[in-house]
Amino acid sequence: MAPVKSLTASVHQRLADALSATLPEAAPVDPLLRRSDRADFQANGILALAKKAKANPRELATQVVGNVDSGGVIKEIEVSGPGFLNITLTDTAIIENLAARSADSDGRLGVPFSDSPGTTVIDYAQPNVAKEMHVGHLRSAVIGDAVVQLLEFTGENVVRRHHIGDWGTQFGMLIQYLDEHPHELDHKAEAQASGEEAMSNLDRLYKAARKLFDSDEEFKTRARLRVVDLQAGDPATLAAWQKFVDESKIYFFSVFEKLDMEIRDADIVGESGYNDMLDETCRILEEKKVAVHSEGALCVFFDDVKGPDGNPVPLIIRKSDGGYGYAATDLSAIRDRVFNLKADNLIYVVDARQSLHFKMVFETARRAGWLNGEDVKAYQLAFGTVLGKDGKPFKTREGETVRLVDLLDEAVDRATTVVREKDVLGQLSDAEVAERGAQVGIGAVKYADLSTSANRDYKFDLDQMVSLNGDTSVYLQYAYARIQSILRKAGEVRPQAHPELELADAERALALHVDAFAETVAEAAGEYAPHKMAAYLYQLASLFTTFYDKCPVIKPAPPQNIAENRLFLSDVTAKTLHQGMALLGIRTPERL
Ligand code: ARG
Repeated sequence: MAPVKSLTASVHQRLADALSATLPEAAPVDPLLRRSDRADFQANGILALAKKAKANPRELATQVVGNVDSGGVIKEIEVSGPGFLNITLTDTAIIENLAARSADSDGRLGVPFSDSPGTTVIDYAQPNVAKEMHVGHLRSAVIGDAVVQLLEFTGENVVRRHHIGDWGTQFGMLIQYLDEHPHELDHKAEAQASGEEAMSNLDRLYKAARKLFDSDEEFKTRARLRVVDLQAGDPATLAAWQKFVDESKIYFFSVFEKLDMEIRDADIVGESGYNDMLDETCRILEEKKVAVHSEGALCVFFDDVKGPDGNPVPLIIRKSDGGYGYAATDLSAIRDRVFNLKADNLIYVVDARQSLHFKMVFETARRAGWLNGEDVKAYQLAFGTVLGKDGKPFKTREGETVRLVDLLDEAVDRATTVVREKDVLGQLSDAEVAERGAQVGIGAVKYADLSTSANRDYKFDLDQMVSLNGDTSVYLQYAYARIQSILRKAGEVRPQAHPELELADAERALALHVDAFAETVAEAAGEYAPHKMAAYLYQLASLFTTFYDKCPVIKPAPPQNIAENRLFLSDVTAKTLHQGMALLGIRTPERL
């Protein structure tokens, strides 16, 4: 079935046509349509047009009004202020349009696919091998997953890349430490029962190795030599390395499963995956004179990147000991993504604290001609820090980084309590309480992360996250479950659109907001801004609450056609909530 245009799109088109008819030489002109509290919509595009055409804006606006084909959609259009247009739609068009969109059998609610989909490679959910996952990894995974869903929904070809930290100095350190402390291995073997146990042992080993590395210069040297063995492909060293990787992956998958997130093994291409490209990357950068030798290292310099002493700080592509670091890998990954995966867009969902690194990497790639900022672009979707209730970076009381799994478990525990308390009649079985507790708890964590714009810091406050009031996922999940319960209670009376009815204000406001779903998807996907979808859904649930307060659906029972129409509005609201939440990676249980 062909997508059904939203009313916003249809009004936009009618106005654009009228503008072209009035001033053909200026076409195409954006009517700049937005929702308004004066009327259903206001269009402000005539002001700029009048300026360009040196015309009187109010006169021009009056001419445009004369050229608008209202098509049964526009009930009233009038000039206001300096040359704005206030537009009111017919009740019939509002309901007919929603009915057509909710009848769309593919569940897309009439949301069109993009006219010009491209290929986006998105780098997200990139924990580090042999290390615990912390809240920073939560953000990258949650934001990245939402952007993937949003982009795929618009028809974009999305390639996921999980650039896990599985290479580098730390592995020389770990492997060397294991070699020198074989008893740590025994320790590890005991704990292989579960991914999580293995992880906490890996973590302990990591910390011990790190401590030695930082305090013992000779160990440091041995560890560095071990990295060279690893990079040279020494079989025994590689075998030890692979053990770390495999065990860590089991752990990662257990966390992603807890997060209710699909991560595929084939999309995990860690730093090691670009190993074979590193030499060539250096050679090309040298040949193109993008990189130069400096104090034995291969470096790229930037006019605007200087240290505190005023001296330029280079991006180091190859260290003086011959080792490659993070930059060489990222530059090789760009080549892979652009030339092999044929990406037009590269997105990196990475902590804002790595912004300087990406700025330098992208600029280097641009100088090398791999990116051009037009048809091959790279963008760091930088996210802020997760703060504790005290407003400082989130730490345990002992000052340690908080383990992601502990946070998730606590969120699920709290949510389970909420679900159980709400179920006063004891209608849910224990298994149902557990399942919903997980859906509510994980949803709460994801929503709290996604409802502020990514670049901002936010406070991790579980009390607030699982609160039933306010801008939380639980509030949205309850709105959805409540509609399902209304639909069940309505029994014989089924949702049915009645375009002949006059709409109450609350019905109109709800319907027009549902109508804006397609625009919200386009905007949130286009700007990589899941928080715009979150804000939209919160408002949708709020408008539903007002509607349900003001417009009785079941009790006191309105005339049948009105009841049917209200059930229809409720149903299309629920479908929109469900789809929008799914795009954020959040479940909407049928009953809560
Ligand atoms: N593993 C890194 C971290 O934990 C993030 C990797 C980001 N992606 C990249 N292509 N550099 O901070």
